[in-house]
Amino acid sequence: MLDLKLNKLINEEIISSYQDQVISIDKMIKNKTGLGSDFLGWVDWPINYDKDELRRIKKDAQYVRDNFEVLVVCGIGGSYLGARSAIEALKGLKSPDKLEIIFMGQTFSPNYIAQALDYLRDKKFAVNVISKSGTTTETSISFRLLKQLLESKNTKEEVKKAIYATTDKNKGALRKLSDIEGYSTYVLPSDIGGRYSVLTAVGLFPLACAGIDVDAMLLGAKEARDVIQKTPLKENKCYQYAVMRDYMYRHDKPVEMYVTYEPQMSQISEWLKQLFGESEGKEQKGLYPGSATFSTDLHSLGQFIQEGTPLLFETIIKILSPHQDVIIPFDEGNLDGLNYIAGKNLAYVNQKAFEGTLKAHEDGGVPCNVIYLDKLDAYNLGYLFYFFMRACAMSAYLLDVNPFNQPGVEVYKKNMFHLLGKKGF
Ligand code: PA5
Repeated sequence: MLDLKLNKLINEEIISSYQDQVISIDKMIKNKTGLGSDFLGWVDWPINYDKDELRRIKKDAQYVRDNFEVLVVCGIGGSYLGARSAIEALKGLKSPDKLEIIFMGQTFSPNYIAQALDYLRDKKFAVNVISKSGTTTETSISFRLLKQLLESKNTKEEVKKAIYATTDKNKGALRKLSDIEGYSTYVLPSDIGGRYSVLTAVGLFPLACAGIDVDAMLLGAKEARDVIQKTPLKENKCYQYAVMRDYMYRHDKPVEMYVTYEPQMSQISEWLKQLFGESEGKEQKGLYPGSATFSTDLHSLGQFIQEGTPLLFETIIKILSPHQDVIIPFDEGNLDGLNYIAGKNLAYVNQKAFEGTLKAHEDGGVPCNVIYLDKLDAYNLGYLFYFFMRACAMSAYLLDVNPFNQPGVEVYKKNMFHLLGKKGF
């Protein structure tokens, strides 16, 4: 279950001053009447998702698990961060699972790509290429290389069985290629943008391949949707979170720092940074989303957070029960002086680090919000993903920007294409 404790600057009076705005924006989201309303397919997706496709996803995922050593998820931005963040959060960073999952298509780095291809050369691998447009250059280059590597060591039929494409239902280069080559395909619905697509096949196929309970994840998202839709602002954690963000933005706190105490959640922060950064950062507006993993980053950023330019507030995602735990052993010599906590587990120490840091930062004038999750499982993660997507839409509409476009991203592409000599640029 999810709970939210807002920072001390936010009181009932502030929340209720947003009441009318929140009600009217909520109507806009439900009735699809706001800016970018063609991209609100994710709102009812937890109940409207394609049940036949989900059955096929689970069946194909089992085939991948039974027949391959590695799955390469090839995509960028919204076409990969959801899957990566959920797989790492739920399976950990050193998963012993029989199917290894690696990521490509998110970089031009020759070092990264060459090393990944070398690693795959002697492995039995499958590829899930994910691209709504089918023309994203990072993804297309990696996919071309992966396809050629597969073709160099497999029959045409084996290659076909090793490639799974997630793309638009009818259009785009990847759709065309998949139809010609006969790949298994899944759909990224045309009314759902990349950064709101984690609960579609974009996230669900790689997650199912990782052995994650995708039904539980959709159920968690459905529960979040139901709760958000029926709860008035006074008790609505999701919309209160959006209101808090707006208030901070308008009161000289232009940076939100997402904080976790679990390294395996660092990609959740990356997903959040994309979701909020791309949805809100336009028309010279929006909070800058940053992230940190504590206590690790307390030894690097901690000084700035405590005493530097007072521009940020924190949103901490705190997991109450870890998957696993370790007891600190007793040591006869006690030269490291740790015997005072011998016999305690690391969850206890991590909790005390959280409590001590929260107090230090609040005392230092850094507003801190805490989202509590009882545990990190597929259900809670589905809930969390939906919670943040809905909060993001509310928050962007409070800023009066379109949450579903990203016009600024095109500028670097145009310059790069011109420099690369692409026709028409
Ligand atoms: O959120 C978004 O829309 C973007 O981050 C896209 O997901 C990203 O640019 C990849 O696009 P595509 O799926 O077309 O390859």
